[in-house]
Amino acid sequence: MPTRQNWFDGWRLFAVLALTLIALSIWIASMRQFEVDGVRMVIRFTARTSLLFFCLAFSAAALARLWPNAWTRWQRRNRRHLGVTFAASHAIHAVAIICFAVMDPASYAAATSTASYIFGGIGYAFIVAMAATSFDRTAQAIGARGWRLLHLTGGYYLLLQFMISFGKRVPDMPLYALFLIPLLAVFALRMIAMAPRAQQTVRAG
Ligand code: HEM
Repeated sequence: MPTRQNWFDGWRLFAVLALTLIALSIWIASMRQFEVDGVRMVIRFTARTSLLFFCLAFSAAALARLWPNAWTRWQRRNRRHLGVTFAASHAIHAVAIICFAVMDPASYAAATSTASYIFGGIGYAFIVAMAATSFDRTAQAIGARGWRLLHLTGGYYLLLQFMISFGKRVPDMPLYALFLIPLLAVFALRMIAMAPRAQQTVRAG
């Protein structure tokens, strides 16, 4: 019998979060009668929800190591599902981007560049590969080392991509600097959590 707690764990948690993101995105677009302004609001909304779930997933192991408590254990236990929720949020970002391109090609061209296609494209390639290897069978298929390499490289690449995507808007909108705080915090937490392990390795060597 499913208990209430099940809804806050595992794939049920993912389903609840993904459906909530879809419902909120539709609601946001409807506030502008599904016109291009509404679609652009969805692009910005999903960039921010992606930031939230990315940070929760990418900080989970470090937080649980530094401060083991009920919340960090929940976060660590569900980091895979939080990571796939990030991918779902970015899938909505992609759908909204396509709608923007179709509805207003001139503004879309002004809002994008060759660099955004190259770096954004690499970002999406990582997101797809990381999401696809977030299931037991596919994770096993690429092996523990392959999985770690992919998720570590992809994680840091996406961290950098978020820094650049939010950071480049700071000169025009200084409050965007606030989005950089969680990213820098996640990076710092990972470095701090790694430090004792690194020291042990040095001592062992
Ligand atoms: C080819 C891939 C991508 C394209 C074409 C693209 C396109 C866009 C566009 C057009 C906007 C601006 C929307 C507007 O001004 O109304 C935007 C915003 C943004 N995108 Fe993407 N994107 C891509 C991939 C990514 C990836 C991989 C990330 C992060 C990992 C990302 C993060 C962001 C962020 C942070 C914003 C700013 C949102 C805000 O203003 O609050 N994008 N993207």
